[in-house]
Amino acid sequence: MTSMPAPIPDQAPIRACTVSRDIQNFDLLIKDMEAELGDGWGDIAFADAPDFLDRPEARDLEFIAVAVGDADEANIAEIGEIVGAATRHDLRVLVIAERLSPIALHQLMRKGADDFVPYPLPEGALHEAIERFGRPRTAPPLPPARPAPADPTRPGLPRSGRDGLVLPVQGLAGGVGASTFAVNLAMELSIEARKSAGRVCLLDLDLQFGSAATYLDLPRKDAVFDLLSGIAAMDGDGFLQALQRYRNAFHVLTAPADILPLGIVGPDEINTLIDMARSQFEFVVIDMPKTLVNWTEAVLNKSHLYFALLELDMRSAENARRVIRVLKSEGLPRERLRFALNRAPGFTDLSGRGRMRRLADSLDIDIGLRLPDCGKAVTKAGDHGQTLAETAARAPLRKEIRMLARSLQDFGTASVAAPQ
Ligand SMILES: Nc1ncnc2c1ncn2[C@@H]1O[C@H](COP(=O)(O)OP(=O)(O)OP(=O)(O)O)[C@@H](O)[C@H]1O
Ligand SMILES: [Mg+2]
Repeated sequence: MTSMPAPIPDQAPIRACTVSRDIQNFDLLIKDMEAELGDGWGDIAFADAPDFLDRPEARDLEFIAVAVGDADEANIAEIGEIVGAATRHDLRVLVIAERLSPIALHQLMRKGADDFVPYPLPEGALHEAIERFGRPRTAPPLPPARPAPADPTRPGLPRSGRDGLVLPVQGLAGGVGASTFAVNLAMELSIEARKSAGRVCLLDLDLQFGSAATYLDLPRKDAVFDLLSGIAAMDGDGFLQALQRYRNAFHVLTAPADILPLGIVGPDEINTLIDMARSQFEFVVIDMPKTLVNWTEAVLNKSHLYFALLELDMRSAENARRVIRVLKSEGLPRERLRFALNRAPGFTDLSGRGRMRRLADSLDIDIGLRLPDCGKAVTKAGDHGQTLAETAARAPLRKEIRMLARSLQDFGTASVAAPQ
C-alpha cells in the first residue's frame, strides 16, 4: 500500500486506491488489496479525496474502494459526493460496508457506486469485484427497439422518490413459467436500469422448490438459511452476505439448500425482508411459491404490481377464479394483480385467441401480458443456467419481457412508495 497522492518513485503503477477515514480500521481490506494488487494500490483519506479525484493520475485507476463503517454515517453525504465525483470521472467504485445501515448504503449506491461488499470481506469477494471491473461496462447488445406496446402496467403507481419497486411473480398452477418470467424480468430490468444506475434484486421466496439458483447456475448458500431463520435480527451485512451476484447484472437471494417449511417465515419477517431489499434496490422481483401461505397477503400488500402467471387451460382458469375470490372476500388489493398468459396463442391462432378471450371474459380479468411459447430455447437457457438475454436474445418471449422491463423502468427510476 502507498499513501496517496504522494508520488512514488520506482514503484508498481498504482491500479487502485482505497478511500476511508482511516484504512487501519480495515486491516482485512489491506490484506486483500495486497493479495490482489501487491504494491499497486494507494490509500487516501476522505478529506483528500475530492482534490485527488480531480488530478490526472486518478484517471488511470482501475477502481476505488470506498471503505465505510457505521462510525462514518454522520458524514455519509460527503462520502456520497466522493462516490459521485469518482463516477463522473468514469472511475469504478466499490463500496466496502462495515455495519452500514441499509439507508446509508443505499445512498452511496444511488450516487453511482458499481458494487458493494460487506466487511469483513467474504472470501474471494474483492477478487471477483476486480474481475468484474476488468470487463467492459456496457450492457449486452440489445436488438433494435420496437415501438412500445400499450403499457401493460397501466393504472398509475404511487410514487415517492425513495424506495424500490416490489414485483412479485406467482404461478397460478405448477410449471406455468413463473420462475422463468421472474429470472428474465430481473435480467431485463437490470439491463434497462444500467442507464440510470438502478439496481435489481431477485428474491426467490419459493422456499421449498425455488429454481432461481438452477436457472442462474448459482450455488445455494448456507447464509440463506441463516438469514431466513433469523430475519428479526437481520442487519444490512447479514442481508448482503446472503445475496449473490448474477454476472454483473443483478443480486439474487436463492432458495435455501434444504427444503424448509414455508412457515419458517411469517408476515412480519417477510415485511422486514422486503423493506430491507427495497431500501437497497430500485427493483425487487420476488419469485413466490405457487401455494398461498400465511405471508402471501404481506407480499401482496407490499407489492406495486403482482404478476399472476397462467396458461390457457382449466387448471389455471380454476385456480385464477379461486384466487380472485379469496382476494375479494378478504378485501385484498386485487387491482395490483397483472395477469400474464404464458404460452399465449400467436396472431394466426384464431381459435386459441378465441379461447383466450373467453377465459378473460369468464374471469372478468384483463390479460395484459401475453408471453409466447418459445419451445426448447427457454428450457435450454434454464438448463444452462443462463437468461434469455444471453442465450436467445431474439426469442419473442425475451422481447416481451424486455418491453415490460422498459415500461417498468419509468416507474422505477424515481422509485416508488410501497402501498403499505
Ligand atoms: N414461454 C415459454 N416457452 C417455452 N418454455 C417455457 C416458457 N415458459 C416456461 N417454459 C418452460 O416451462 C418449464 C417450467 O417453467 P418454470 O420453472 O418457469 O415454471 P414455474 O411456474 O416456476 O414452475 P414451478 O411450479 O415448478 O415453480 C421450464 O422448463 C421452462 O423452461
Ligand atoms: Mg418456479
